[in-house]
Amino acid sequence: MKEHVILIGFMGAGKTTIGKRLSKKLGVSLLDTDRLIEEEAQITISRIFETKGEEAFRQAETRMLKTLAKYEDKAVISVGGGLPMREENRKILKEMGTVVYLRVRPSTVIKRLKGDTTRPLLQGEDAQKKVRTLLNDREKLYQEAAHLTVDVDGKTVGQITTEIEGSLIQ
Ligand code: S3P
Repeated sequence: MKEHVILIGFMGAGKTTIGKRLSKKLGVSLLDTDRLIEEEAQITISRIFETKGEEAFRQAETRMLKTLAKYEDKAVISVGGGLPMREENRKILKEMGTVVYLRVRPSTVIKRLKGDTTRPLLQGEDAQKKVRTLLNDREKLYQEAAHLTVDVDGKTVGQITTEIEGSLIQ
């Protein structure tokens, strides 16, 4: 069995930040599906949504996940917030290693992503309502996808990382 650590969760939950710290502490690489998709396409995710549409992006995510599933060296893998919504992806994730759900409150996401222009799903009118609705719709599937859940609100990066490490050892 592969032993990757996979971080899932809503936009703004801290997947990339925690991924950086955790991968450093574990002495392994950090792989990030969003960044890899952007590198491959040579354009930003916003541009992919604009020019090819969300469905094309979702297909790119599944393709990238299947490529990462073949990666042999242990790694921390951070995946885009919407990736675990596909049943096919949830199945692959679970087989790749320990899936950690970074659970965040809508109010924290709203605070963190105020003024952000890089998340196409949260642009336009009433971003706050979009966060609440989308997070509420997704919560059950995040839980379903994960082996363990870590609440991130009010905790430091160090605390969250230590909590994850502790759960991995048990
Ligand atoms: C998305 C989350 C984003 C990115 C894209 C769609 C989503 O990644 O993949 O904008 O559907 O939640 P982050 O979770 O890293 O922001």
